[in-house]
Order: sequence, then C-alpha cells, then structure tokens
Amino acid sequence: MPMQISLQGRRALVTGANSGIGAAVARALAGAGARVCVNYLVGPGAAEELVASIRGGGGEALAVAADVSDAGQVAGLFAAVDRAWGGLDVLVNNAGVDGPRALAWEADPAAWERVLRIDLVGAFLCAREALKRMVAQQRGVVLNLTSVHEKIAWSGYSAYTAAKAGLSMLTKTLAQEAAPHGVRVLSLAPGAIRTDINRQVWSDPASLSDLLTKIPLGRMGDPEEIARVATFLVSDAASYVTGSTVYADGAMTDYPDFAHGG
Ligand code: BGC
Repeated sequence: MPMQISLQGRRALVTGANSGIGAAVARALAGAGARVCVNYLVGPGAAEELVASIRGGGGEALAVAADVSDAGQVAGLFAAVDRAWGGLDVLVNNAGVDGPRALAWEADPAAWERVLRIDLVGAFLCAREALKRMVAQQRGVVLNLTSVHEKIAWSGYSAYTAAKAGLSMLTKTLAQEAAPHGVRVLSLAPGAIRTDINRQVWSDPASLSDLLTKIPLGRMGDPEEIARVATFLVSDAASYVTGSTVYADGAMTDYPDFAHGG
C-alpha cells in the first residue's frame, strides 16, 4: 500500500504557531489538507500573515490569541475552535520558552516558574481541553514538542530541562489514559533547530562551531525538517505510534560526546 500523508478534513490547533517550529508545523499541516488554528501570544501580525498565506494557498485557517499558561484563556482558545469547526482532531503543543540563562543558585524563582508554567502547565491545560473532546469522539492526536533536553542536561537551563523532561512523562501518562479511547499522545523532540529561540547560539560563530561538534549530522536543522516529522506523526500513517518520544536531532541525543574528528 503506498503511503499517503493526508490530513484532509482534520481540525488542528498549533500553539505558539506565529514563529519558528510552530509556524512551520502549521504550514505543513495545512499543506496536508488540515484546517489549522494558529495560536499566538504576541504579535498578531505574524499570525495573521500566516493565516493569509494558508488561505491564499486554498487552505482554511484562523488565528487566535491566548496565553497557554492561563486556564481561562485556554478555555477561550478551544471555544473559538469549537465555534469555527465544531471540535478538534489534532493538538500540537508547541508553545514554549527556554527562559533566561542562569545557574540554579542565581536563578530568579519567578522566572524559573514562568518557564514551567508555559512549557509544562500550558501543555497540560491545552491537552486537557483537547482530550475532553477527543475522548468523547474516540479519535484524535496530541503531539507535544519536547526537546533533546528532555534527556540531555543543559547547564543554565534547569527550568527548561525540567519542564521538557516533565512533558515527556506527561506524554506517557496521557497516552496510557487516552489509548483505550482511540486517542494517541506522543512527543517529538527536536535537536538544534535554527529559530529565534536560539538565535544567540547560531549567530555567534564560536558558539555555533561548538554546537556543531555535538551534532553527528554536522549541521543545525530547519523548522521544516521538524514540521515534516510532525505531519507524519499526527497522521494516520503513524497510527501505531503513541506514548513515546520521536527524536529529530541529527543524532545529538545518542552521541552527546561526539566531536568531529575526535
Ligand atoms: C533549545 C536550543 C538548543 C537545542 C540544542 C533546544 O531545546 O531550544 O536553544 O540549541 O535545544 O541544545
């Protein structure tokens, strides 16, 4: 049977979809035929531009502002999708921040907690709303964007690594709860992808070349390379994949000590 990745007729919500990996995922899902809700927190301009370009290509999309770390705003976000499309088939929990770099004993507790609120609690709040709907219709997929840092420690980013490791376990538990209802929950862990979140790493030649020594594939990834995997994972082509993390990282997780020529 030839493999066809079609999301025709599916209703998808991508959080933090106005930039970076989220925007690429929203574009790719729409390209596969899904209707896509582009959630954003700031900058309606980028979200509206993305919606216009999806519509320009013959797709269906809408932009909805909401802070995923706020339960009331998350309820409003899902209500907006219900009003537009009568429900949801795919949630991509993408919204995230890595927070200010700080060693634990110098970290500001409020800044630390904010990372957890967005990356972990926010994903839970959205998954909770999505699963209410998906369990009732006995169909759906929740895809959580984690990171190689669900597994690899990262000095200066204890909130981010703790949030991503927590998200990975949240995925496993929600997958177990949802599986009897025909609903899949899984994680996608990108490695070093060139986006705004890590601009300071790749725009500095010394830190970029240090990063590349840790990536066996020898280069950073593009958002589209994550978006293609995400499209596959939320499609029926991945119908037997649930509860686990799929890595798209140029092998940096399994070879953390890799060094070119070393
Ligand atoms: C971070 C990036 C980093 C990459 C690899 C990602 O989770 O957001 O800033 O380059 O992990 O360390």
